[in-house]
Amino acid sequence: MNLDIRIDISRCKASAVGAEHGIAPGDLKVIGPRVEAAHEVLRRERAENKYGFYDLYKDDAAFNDVKATAAGFLSKGYENFVILGIGGSALGTTALATALKPPYHNLLNRRARGGTPRLFVIDNIDPVTFHRMMRLCPPKRTLYNVISKSGDTAETVSQMLIVLEAIEKAVGGDAVRDHVVATTNPRNKATSLLHPVADHYGLKEFAIPFNVGGRFSVFSPVGMFPAAMLGMDLDALREGCAAMDARCGTLPMMENPAYLHAAVQYLAHTQKGKAISVMMPYADALRDVADWYRQLWAESLGKRLSLDGEEVYAGQTPIKSLGATDQHSQVQLYREGPNDKIFNIIEVTKFDRTLRIPSVLNDITQFDYLRGKTMNKLMAAERRGTIDALKISNRPVSRIILPRINAHTVAQLLYMLEVETAMAGRLYNVQTFDQPGVDEGKKIARALMGQGR
Ligand code: PA5
Repeated sequence: MNLDIRIDISRCKASAVGAEHGIAPGDLKVIGPRVEAAHEVLRRERAENKYGFYDLYKDDAAFNDVKATAAGFLSKGYENFVILGIGGSALGTTALATALKPPYHNLLNRRARGGTPRLFVIDNIDPVTFHRMMRLCPPKRTLYNVISKSGDTAETVSQMLIVLEAIEKAVGGDAVRDHVVATTNPRNKATSLLHPVADHYGLKEFAIPFNVGGRFSVFSPVGMFPAAMLGMDLDALREGCAAMDARCGTLPMMENPAYLHAAVQYLAHTQKGKAISVMMPYADALRDVADWYRQLWAESLGKRLSLDGEEVYAGQTPIKSLGATDQHSQVQLYREGPNDKIFNIIEVTKFDRTLRIPSVLNDITQFDYLRGKTMNKLMAAERRGTIDALKISNRPVSRIILPRINAHTVAQLLYMLEVETAMAGRLYNVQTFDQPGVDEGKKIARALMGQGR
């Protein structure tokens, strides 16, 4: 079966939604040379090792280490696996777990979970949630993975300190190494406060390559150790990345899904006033991919300064949405509110299950149109209905089509969106890989907590 994901931009075109809102063939022709020039820069800088995210999937040593470490910990039979981290250190794992683990994974018994632990991703510092997690995940039965590239994110450090104290109390300081794994900056390239913590307890440590930013780190041990702990098919994930790398590393733009999609979104924003990019998967499993993309697109492109130092206030606001759920929440606005959005609808051709709507209550003839059909068919009809309705309202829609949801296709999707973001950053002429706006807030919060006093 062909597992390639496809994109269809035909409904973003002027021929579908009119010249005021749609992209004309001439717009794509004009942007073509800019995409080609940006491709050369990205290619050169990739070869110079400036961005590591492209090649994470090739790192045999890292994948072998992740697999062996996970096998060792899995053999100890932990009931719970808890991620302590925030932003790029957490969202990738959530996206993969929602996509590739069965719904309600944590509610299944150990056997039905295939011997893998329950997963808790603590992407915040809400004391009520954290306290509840600690009650649900007693240290003796739990492996914690503290993930922080910088090692000094106050949210993550506070989570870690609470957990370390609890583990010490429950099992003693010498056993902390059996309950905590640290993922952070590499020792030979950068400092991280997780290094002295790991030294203190003798923790297993994974390195995030120095040239990989948090939101681009899902295929590093940040996302791959949790993936291995949850029994995901790491080889299929790598194959999906490789397949998409082969398609996204070359020109022409029209045959490169990441470049074409970047160009379409950029044109929709800068030429057609679509300042908002909605990602709307029609599959619960991809709900958190939209959340992961929201961070990737926002933090990478939302920049005050251009690469030339001019004030540009660049960026398109990403919105996460879910079909069919949000048809009953957002679509009214999407169709009749401001025409300032481009819609990225994610479709799944074949779900893993087919669910028939039974022939019951036959005397209520108003239900005839549903009886004997499948929920799958209804989902497809709802999706098609939304896409067609958006077209009637002259709203541009791009379609991203996954033949199925599995490790191969989800890896393709994430990899494509990463390359798309790198290309979009070049088109906006901003520094894609930093986040000065976030770093400033981190500093202020730490000062308010008394750091440096
Ligand atoms: O993408 C990014 O770099 C950020 O979202 C970080 O992942 C987030 O701020 C957490 O930082 P750290 O991993 O250093 O704790």
